[in-house]
Amino acid sequence: MSPPGRPKGESFEREREGGPVDPPGRPEGESSEREPEGRLVAADALAAARRMLAGVRRLAVLTGAGMSAESGVPTFRDAHTGLWSRFDPMQLASPEGFRADPPLVWRWYAWRRELVAKARPNAGHLALAEAAAHFERLCVVTQNVDGLHQRAGSRDVIELHGSIVRSRCLAECGALFARPEELPAGEPPRCPRCGSWLRPDVVWFGERLDPEALAAAERACTEADALLVVGTSGLVYPAAGLPMQARRAGAPVVIVNPQPTEIDAVADAVVRAAAGAALPALLGGAGAV
Ligand code: APR
Repeated sequence: MSPPGRPKGESFEREREGGPVDPPGRPEGESSEREPEGRLVAADALAAARRMLAGVRRLAVLTGAGMSAESGVPTFRDAHTGLWSRFDPMQLASPEGFRADPPLVWRWYAWRRELVAKARPNAGHLALAEAAAHFERLCVVTQNVDGLHQRAGSRDVIELHGSIVRSRCLAECGALFARPEELPAGEPPRCPRCGSWLRPDVVWFGERLDPEALAAAERACTEADALLVVGTSGLVYPAAGLPMQARRAGAPVVIVNPQPTEIDAVADAVVRAAAGAALPALLGGAGAV
């Protein structure tokens, strides 16, 4: 099945899903290149990061689309492969876009839902799920809507941007469908309670995050002894503000990402590697209480 929607013609670095807040700029002249590139895992950064996680009792982990890249789920902003390099987010991921053409948006999400259903958790998801046993608390705060952390076995997961698996009433009458197979027929289907459209239960550009999920994420990050940030570009707020909040609360911040990010300056260690390689190396046997 090929993805519906028209490819877009312009870049979309400045738009963000989940609220209109602008990111704080990196201080002028400060480089995000803290670690040498060209190695799969920068051994010194990895060793430093392991030391930071040693003895940690409460670990928070903030994840973004890169976490699922090795499962075959495309990221949003990677050049060439990112969804927003091919599709227009305002057309496909905004309330206005949905209202303009509900069937188009519904089909795009149906395509992504199918892709996610076929994907399997990767070595990074599994390493996080397995590591939970070694911590008093390991809370995963994810911007991903794919449910792969839960499918890998993680239990303490906060979904900041909702879930692509669930659908709900556009008119907010309260109707919620936890699984695609429970949905009424139609494209998009109509709400059986009030007749409005049903929409994916995700946070679109310009929409607010669920305040309870955001508060729980902030608590998890500020109460943690360390924060691990995996596979996010750090461009979308309020999620991208969590590392700074954790740092202000005294927690060391470790970033795992093969590319520089907007929030590298907040980190105490930057491991330039893919999640599937770095997380088993970082968490294997670490943090036991
Ligand atoms: N391992 C770790 N990181 C990776 C990998 C990998 N294998 N592959 C790519 N990355 C990194 C990229 O270098 C990039 O920094 O993942 C990041 C993906 O960034 P984005 O595509 O911007 O995804 P994300 O940060 O999750 O976006 C935030 O924007 O439109 C949205 O709502 C959507 O939740 C999403 C939000």
